[in-house]
Amino acid sequence: MPASAGDGTALIFSVNNQPQQVLKRSANDGGVTSDVTSTTTLADYLRLHQQLPGTKTMCREGMCGACVVTVTSQNPATGQMESRAVNSCMVPIKACQDWQIETVEGIGNRRDGYHPVQARLAHMNGTQCGYCSPGMVMSMYSLLKSNGKVSPEEVEQAMDGNLCRCTGYRPILDAFKTFDKDADDKTKRLVADIEETAGCHGRSGGSCQPTVACAGCPRAAALTSAKDDWRLPTTLQQALSDLSNMTVGDKSVRLVAGNTSMHASGVLDKYDAPSDGYISLLKIPELRAIKRPANGSNCRIIHDAPRAVFGAAVTLSELIEELKLLSKTAGYRHCAEMVKHLQLVANTPVRNAGTWAGNLMIKRSERDERSNPRPVTTQAGCWGSRPRLHDFDLRMNSTSTSRRHLP
Ligand SMILES: Cc1cc2nc3c(=O)[nH]c(=O)nc-3n(C[C@H](O)[C@H](O)[C@H](O)COP(=O)(O)OP(=O)(O)OC[C@H]3O[C@@H](n4cnc5c(N)ncnc54)[C@H](O)[C@@H]3O)c2cc1C
Ligand code: FES
Ligand code: FES
Repeated sequence: MPASAGDGTALIFSVNNQPQQVLKRSANDGGVTSDVTSTTTLADYLRLHQQLPGTKTMCREGMCGACVVTVTSQNPATGQMESRAVNSCMVPIKACQDWQIETVEGIGNRRDGYHPVQARLAHMNGTQCGYCSPGMVMSMYSLLKSNGKVSPEEVEQAMDGNLCRCTGYRPILDAFKTFDKDADDKTKRLVADIEETAGCHGRSGGSCQPTVACAGCPRAAALTSAKDDWRLPTTLQQALSDLSNMTVGDKSVRLVAGNTSMHASGVLDKYDAPSDGYISLLKIPELRAIKRPANGSNCRIIHDAPRAVFGAAVTLSELIEELKLLSKTAGYRHCAEMVKHLQLVANTPVRNAGTWAGNLMIKRSERDERSNPRPVTTQAGCWGSRPRLHDFDLRMNSTSTSRRHLP
């Protein structure tokens, strides 16, 4: 029986519908597989351990989108399954508990038939050297999976984290805009010509042979670290208790949300020493919760007035979507301006993983870092002097303090 989060043995997730298990704690302690530590990225796990090289890596810091995969996971605050594009180069493998991960091999291939996204990109000359193509395909596939029907504007926005150095963006975007829900007849005829689409079986389960570990691979060996304690608490109480248990002596512990800060101080930082332990915040319902004003009186976190509340592990994408809705409500119209400002942050896959609180924490420790969320949250009364953030309130002219700090 697979182990579950928090029991200290193995992590369970799936890649292209194939169940995966990796040790939750240190390597080589009699568990399922070795060479996988807290600093192993999902991208390296796919490429080196699972021999799925369709997922590419280039910048390894969230800039190019070559490594995008689709992740479907349950939001602990809502119970809903949600799909999104993520940069696998920035995801610590041990954050993947219960995730369903899809790669470019899994959605379609030559043997089983291509997915329409793959077929249209090829058919409409959207790929030359092909290095960026898997990431492009997975960004588009993620958009379709999360939204169903898409508009041309949504396609353009979803591709904002994918760089192409040789084809040019016009044929790529033309290919993907054929998925527009209101595509004209000419586009529909064009699409009907694509013979591979008819043979597509959708998700095939992958074209590569899954293997347990990449034995002898120097890269995988280099990723192994004795310092390796990764916790995935499912309640705030558990997180606080992990925090106090782990910070004994001079041990270093890092809270991890989206881990997109690797250029600053993330788990997978290229320049920094690994920490002794990590606490992932992704499974804590209170920190993932968004409370709408109408539900404010039922809010477990802030009791004094109805208001919008955003948990500290709410991603920037989730924040933006909620602000768009709120901006249509009296008293919250200013949120439309906040949306514009937050959309300037990075790109879609980074915003899908990165949290507003993580952004503020980077800004706090790296004063020179740009922070678009900072003016937004300052306006909402969130920017504080203490390091640990919990949630913030968005009402205009709020006089009450809405800061909540982990003790
Ligand atoms: C390619 C790229 C481009 C970017 N461009 C921009 C930009 O244009 N504008 C901009 O403003 N930002 C930009 N960013 C920064 C981005 O917004 C942040 O990396 C992201 O929001 C951090 O959130 P995270 O959840 O990934 O944090 P993590 O990487 O998980 O954590 C960051 C830090 O915050 C701490 N932390 C996280 N959550 C909490 C919590 N709840 N309580 C206490 N401490 C916590 C962690 O311990 C860590 O020290 C960019 C990032 C990338 C990778
Ligand atoms: S390798 Fe460039 S974003 Fe991941
Ligand atoms: S096709 Fe070569 S980088 Fe995009």
